[in-house]
Amino acid sequence: MPELPVPEPKALPFAARAAGCPFTPAPELYEMQHDDELRRVKVPSPILGEFEAVALTRYEDAKSVLGDERLQMGYVFDPEAPRTMLNQPGNLLNYNGAEHTRLRRMLTGAFTVKRVRALRPKIEQIVTGRLDALEEAGPGSDLVQLFGTPIPTLVICELLGVPYADREDFQRRARVGLDVNTTREAQIQNLAEMDDYMGALIASHRQSPGDNLLGSVVRDFGDQLTDDELVGIGNMLLVAGHETTASMLSAGTALLLQHPDQLAVVRDDPSATDGAVEELLRYCAPAITMPREAAADMYVRGQKIEQGERVVVSVLAANRDLGVAEGDLDSLDVRRPPLPHVTFGYGAHQCLGQQLARMELRTALPALFNRFPTLQLAVPQAEVSYRTTALVFGVNELPVTW
Ligand code: HEM
Repeated sequence: MPELPVPEPKALPFAARAAGCPFTPAPELYEMQHDDELRRVKVPSPILGEFEAVALTRYEDAKSVLGDERLQMGYVFDPEAPRTMLNQPGNLLNYNGAEHTRLRRMLTGAFTVKRVRALRPKIEQIVTGRLDALEEAGPGSDLVQLFGTPIPTLVICELLGVPYADREDFQRRARVGLDVNTTREAQIQNLAEMDDYMGALIASHRQSPGDNLLGSVVRDFGDQLTDDELVGIGNMLLVAGHETTASMLSAGTALLLQHPDQLAVVRDDPSATDGAVEELLRYCAPAITMPREAAADMYVRGQKIEQGERVVVSVLAANRDLGVAEGDLDSLDVRRPPLPHVTFGYGAHQCLGQQLARMELRTALPALFNRFPTLQLAVPQAEVSYRTTALVFGVNELPVTW
């Protein structure tokens, strides 16, 4: 039987990375950034089908639209349609205006700087446990499996009250949900499985609210939320809470291993940690912002975006926008004064978990390089494979030695 051709993985044109250099934006993104005229690109989406959108690649453009309430989320929100990530109740990314604020306010208390600081001892304990596991597994083992993925997964499980033993299934479902190459049918089936899993957890909290985030949302706001909304909130926090930070831990390590002088700063100078993490976030830009739709005519640099037009922002390109700051923004410099970036988005939907993500990165990365001061790749750099066609960029495997 003749072999069926394998379809080309669809890359997102506003998150495309340079061939052979996954931390660098594709050349087309730089071209767009220098264009005076706004460009429209074709965006592949398993849920919506291919659609056309205005692509914004400059930092100031990104901020101005993401901060503008005329540019809205949830433009396909249809309660009658089959359930996908884009019409799931409870997912903050599907709401606008007062409705969004109402739901977001129920969750902000759990993610304040103070609450995140209180988690530090627990995060340190988790990190130490994963460093022990890596040491025990020995040189040649995979840092993604033993360190990058388990740390944020253990943290979010602890925070939400989700059993860590279920991780293989919920991690697989998160990957499917974030892969732009899964079919619409697979997305619908995948979300149904996520809903079943989270539905059972929410039902048990309805009976007896646990001493964790899901339990406290049920206790404090359960009378204002439907079970569907609670399930959506749980799904959103579980996926957003582990996949992105896992990507940053593994991709950030891969990047530093390519820059030993910068790695030495993170290892040896605790006063540089916060700035270094900010630079790694700017440089890796692992997550995209969701496509938006203009609810009214609006203008960017004098050019019209018509009501109903879709807009996508390139976080990757905006973070390298030379218009925004002096200096060479294409190079990694962990000692530079922190530069502004949109890695956590901007405006009303700006990442709710950003302080938690920062805390995990600031704790885990210096600890890794201190435990293994001679850490290096166990394979040639060219053999490291990256996930470049998902909604969250990442490293597939990172064999390390020391
Ligand atoms: C390095 C790690 C992370 C990155 C790069 C990241 C990135 C982002 C981005 C870009 C957005 C905005 C999306 C948009 O505007 O379309 C966002 C939203 C969000 N993030 Fe994160 N995130 C990270 C970690 C986390 C963590 C640890 C949590 C905790 C549970 C979290 C929870 C959320 C939530 C709930 C939203 C939706 C906020 C809203 O719509 O109001 N994120 N994140």
